[in-house]
Amino acid sequence: MSSKYTAAVITVSDKCFAGEREDTSGPAVKELLEKEGWQVVYRATVPDERDKIRKELVKCCDELKISLVMTTGGTGFSPRDITPEATLEVIERETRGIPEAMRAESMKITPRACLSRSVAGIRGASLIVNLPGSKKAAVENLSAVTEALKHGMDMLASAGSANCAAPEK
Ligand code: MTE
Repeated sequence: MSSKYTAAVITVSDKCFAGEREDTSGPAVKELLEKEGWQVVYRATVPDERDKIRKELVKCCDELKISLVMTTGGTGFSPRDITPEATLEVIERETRGIPEAMRAESMKITPRACLSRSVAGIRGASLIVNLPGSKKAAVENLSAVTEALKHGMDMLASAGSANCAAPEK
């Protein structure tokens, strides 16, 4: 398999980090990515702390050179929900269409989908995408964009020569 399709799944949750709650979202996101042909090469759980999230994202992009870095959790309105802000601090180019698509598809499922403040963006050759924290929400959001993510990755890795006219898979 091409190393172009490597992925990391980072669970952002105080409770999961402290061992007070089982992480069901991280494994579900990993499973869905693998089903879609991604090689999940890194997993981590971090508390809802801006610095720790930021460091983990930078490590995945700059050090481990992972193509797709998914986070799950911390996108809501709770005072400790800070994943989007940490993500915005490390990305270089925001990719707004991805969270737009996730929310648009998710609004067909639940009116509460608009409460996810998830963002996505490019850092170097990596794409970072936030997902909400519950297993159901994470899987529903990711399912809305799985097809497009690979094409995005192809473009990112292609130095400008990706073929957008190629038939969709
Ligand atoms: N999106 C989908 N598809 N399905 C859901 O059940 N839950 C929403 C929203 N997005 C949901 C969803 C709710 S209730 C919240 S509060 C936000 O995601 C943020 O979740 P988070 O704080 O766990 O990141």
